[in-house]
Amino acid sequence: MAFTYINLVLLSISIFISIFPETSISVDIERGFLQCFSSGLEHSNSTAEVILTQNSSSYTSLLQSSIRNLRFLNSSVPKPKLIVTPRHLGHIQRAITCSRKHGLQVRVRSGGHDYEGLSYVSDVPFLIIDLINFRSISIDINDESAWVEAGATLGELYYAIAKKSNVYGFPAGSCPTVGVGGHLSGGGFGTIFRKYGLAADNVIDAEMVDVNGNILNRTLMGEDLFWAIRGGGGSSLGIITAWKVKLVPIPPTLTIFNVPKTLEQGASSLFQKWQTIADKLPSELFLHSVMGVDNSSYNSGRKTVVVSFTGLYLGKAEKLLPWMQNNFPELGLHLNNCTEMSWIQSVLYFTDYPINGPLEILLHRNQTFRSFKAKSDYVTDPIPVAGLEGLWNMLLEENSPILILTPYGGRMSEISGSETPFPHRNGSIYGIQYLVYWDSNEETPKHIDWMRRLYAYMAPYVSKCPRAAYLNYRDLDLGVNRGNTSYEEAKSWGLKYFKFNFERLARVKAEVDPSNFFWHEQSIPPLFN
Ligand code: FDA
Repeated sequence: MAFTYINLVLLSISIFISIFPETSISVDIERGFLQCFSSGLEHSNSTAEVILTQNSSSYTSLLQSSIRNLRFLNSSVPKPKLIVTPRHLGHIQRAITCSRKHGLQVRVRSGGHDYEGLSYVSDVPFLIIDLINFRSISIDINDESAWVEAGATLGELYYAIAKKSNVYGFPAGSCPTVGVGGHLSGGGFGTIFRKYGLAADNVIDAEMVDVNGNILNRTLMGEDLFWAIRGGGGSSLGIITAWKVKLVPIPPTLTIFNVPKTLEQGASSLFQKWQTIADKLPSELFLHSVMGVDNSSYNSGRKTVVVSFTGLYLGKAEKLLPWMQNNFPELGLHLNNCTEMSWIQSVLYFTDYPINGPLEILLHRNQTFRSFKAKSDYVTDPIPVAGLEGLWNMLLEENSPILILTPYGGRMSEISGSETPFPHRNGSIYGIQYLVYWDSNEETPKHIDWMRRLYAYMAPYVSKCPRAAYLNYRDLDLGVNRGNTSYEEAKSWGLKYFKFNFERLARVKAEVDPSNFFWHEQSIPPLFN
């Protein structure tokens, strides 16, 4: 018999055990998994193409390739025993079967943007199923739909649509490196969601592999599971391999504007006005505000808060301007603040790419990232002036804080809160994402402490009972599963993400994964009665 890749890996594992016997249990698991995986394949040498061990030369580069929060690049962060890069559904089925048999936990990674690194970090022996090779996209303009594999990025999807048509788009997030797998299973919003709803609202079919290795589509999985994977987070329920999505019509010309104001230029009163109109704007108009600090240019070098009012209008400037002048004249929007462009150029704009540059930049997966911590909130009543004054003071304590305030209303208010697991619909004026960035590991505790203090400060001004949060801005401070955490215990974080939908999610989980194989720190616990 030829000396195959699997023999070579097993030989090096045996040598390793003889040198470090204490690690033999986890090495046995790894060896068992590899044997199981290759024995189920028609050509055992394909294991080499699909599985990277910690000794493989490309293990580290692949592991790091889609880590988007540099907090989790630290050498002390636990690493996967193996990385499986399936090339077809059979590899995923095999990886699930063998992980179950040999007690290896599975983490699934599409774009790697999980805020807490849950797609590639675990405290117990684990492997990653990385969908880097599941990236094909097929656009059907006649059917106004697309099939997109879960490992594709939003940038790849937007690029593929733009190559086929300039009058269709897709309502998902603004960062092109975000993976379709995690994004759509957690909701997914972007600059046209007030017109068309979430990315998850526009999913019309899906393909996934369940805990028993069955390949399911919408008909086979049934409407409960199909409901759950569109906002409930796929990683509790199985491995989604592809989505069928509905494309949405887009006018050929959109208008973009950005008006930044410091506190000294009246940012506070503009923001107060914004809070009263943001969710009532026509659904064609997305006007978010972004808060940060400016250390230099204004006010003789003194640090100040800047609030930028950035808008996207699905139409021409000549229609937008009278509306803004009638409803938000204080912003002083003029024609020279506006730029008309196509939808795909607006995607470039919101990523800070040159709008007249080549679209191929949307296919780049390597972007520079930093360490960050984020949290989220929903606002149901405008924050009063006194609350804002305290907020400005808190922002001025930090170097790189960013608050992104995203207006709801429009189509989001028309869709019932139980239509998908994403419950933040009618009644939410806007969502807040709090972000803080830094570069050096030593600074981590200081910035995380600031973020927690900011979150505590904001409590009186945001939604209550539960204090709602957005799953795609995952935050382990809200609570974590420990071992077999019960449904009741998991409510501490589950109700924040899902409100009244949490119970249904837990019942679906009990149906499709009763042994809780797809466990992670914030996976849905099974509820049996
Ligand atoms: P990743 O691969 O890390 O997966 C995230 C979670 O989903 C993990 O639990 C993972 O196991 C699971 N998962 C991934 N693929 C799966 C699959 N195929 N089957 C089952 N489970 C799977 N959000 C938003 O709504 N609008 C926005 O504009 C942005 N912008 C943005 C910018 C940047 C820079 C970041 C880092 C994040 C965002 N997000 C966002 C948040 C983003 O939507 C969220 O982090 C997604 O979960 C990321 O999905 P990925 O596939 O990239 O992550």
